[in-house]
Amino acid sequence: MKHLIAPSILAADFGNLQRDIEMINSSEADWFHIDVMDGVFVPNISYGFPVLDVVKAHATKPLDVHLMIVNPDQYIERFAKSGAAVITVHYEACVHLHRTVQAIHAAGCRAGVALNPHTPVELLKDILADLDMVLIMSVNPGFGGQKFIGNTYNKITRLKALAADLNPNLIIEVDGGVDIGNIVALKDAGATVFVAGSSIFTATSPSKMISDLKNMPSGIFTI
Ligand code: DX5
Ligand code: ZN
Repeated sequence: MKHLIAPSILAADFGNLQRDIEMINSSEADWFHIDVMDGVFVPNISYGFPVLDVVKAHATKPLDVHLMIVNPDQYIERFAKSGAAVITVHYEACVHLHRTVQAIHAAGCRAGVALNPHTPVELLKDILADLDMVLIMSVNPGFGGQKFIGNTYNKITRLKALAADLNPNLIIEVDGGVDIGNIVALKDAGATVFVAGSSIFTATSPSKMISDLKNMPSGIFTI
């Protein structure tokens, strides 16, 4: 499968948000990645529904909503109403994860579960068949622009093996510190969707960087 690129609007210029959304619309990007942070689950606050509604009003591609919040259940319908195609909750934030995943599906969205860098992929064994996507955090959630954590390759490889048995259609997304130097090795490990914030928005030409990330052939770089 051709991999997907999901630019994170956390790294966009919020003074020119419509311009940056339109850049993504006309680029080779596949999804919009929307990072919602509550200042409780993670030590940062990003943005909420008013910003999401602006993205929805202008975006022509699916919205991939990554909830870094406690008690996500109480907002699932609201995020669905705001146009989320995929809603991803954190394993570490959900006491009744199975119920949360059911609620995301009932709201008409695809369901993802995110894992912090320290959380083993094996903990998802008994829910993997119910998921559309697993998001592997390759930095500690909360901020853009952090250094990629190398153990991510190993986690993706192990998740891919689990998914081969339990859910062959599982989407594996990787989020944090993704750039042109590691995307091929991540794809070779088994990831299929790549979130990228700072590597896109600090590039001289963000749309060319999206194109470069999208069209990287496999096997050129090694880890
Ligand atoms: C981090 C967020 C990421 C972030 C990625 O908590 O989940 O989506 O925006 O940004 P970069 O690509 O700059 O690491
Ligand atoms: Zn994210």
